[in-house]
Amino acid sequence: MSKRGAFIVIEGLDRSGKSTQTALLLSRLESARIPAKLLKFPDRTTAIGKMIDSYLKSQSDLDDHAIHLLFSANRWELASSIEHLLAAGTTVVCDRYAFSGIAFSASKGLPYEWCRAPDVSLPAPDLAVFLDITPEAAKARGGYGEERYEKEEMQRRVREVFRRIGEEIKGSGLGAWVWVDAGREKGVVAEEVWGHVELLARGVEGPLCRLWT
Ligand code: TMP
Ligand code: MG
Repeated sequence: MSKRGAFIVIEGLDRSGKSTQTALLLSRLESARIPAKLLKFPDRTTAIGKMIDSYLKSQSDLDDHAIHLLFSANRWELASSIEHLLAAGTTVVCDRYAFSGIAFSASKGLPYEWCRAPDVSLPAPDLAVFLDITPEAAKARGGYGEERYEKEEMQRRVREVFRRIGEEIKGSGLGAWVWVDAGREKGVVAEEVWGHVELLARGVEGPLCRLWT
């Protein structure tokens, strides 16, 4: 049986270096001649994504539950493309995924279980890499405060929920979750990320799992 592509998710606080690290990972995969595609959530190009974009830029207001469901719907509208890419042997690298959905909404006070529900049975990543940075260090990187959630106190709560999500993923056997210290120089971080990804990216034999099932 031929191997499928690996599904890799990169998570972290705002300004943790996800864009930089996902780009470095993509070029590393290319150099290794591994077919790969980079996706990003929210995908602001779709009709739903445009509503999310407007909300994040505070150009519109939405009930906390409604925006949570839009973020989830934005993943569902791409779920079948993810499956097709993986089945065709392409490694999918995703900048944020359902874990961000839970972490940010739960940090606003919505119940954790409620936040998880709409993402149940989405394709589950084979590996989630959490780029860990303190909210203080993230703030010091600059470019902060432009969008709705980019506030130190919010980011502090988000990091705590991410910790819970990571512990649960690790305990559930649903793919792997690793914490990477993202406060270091970008080349050092990239090297560590590659160490976690390399073997998986050579192809996965087992079937794709579903989130939280
Ligand atoms: P970005 O900065 O990676 O484009 O993400 C935009 C913001 O949206 C970021 O603060 C995290 C937040 N977010 C959610 O609240 N729920 C989600 O499901 C996702 C994917 C992101
Ligand atoms: Mg951001």
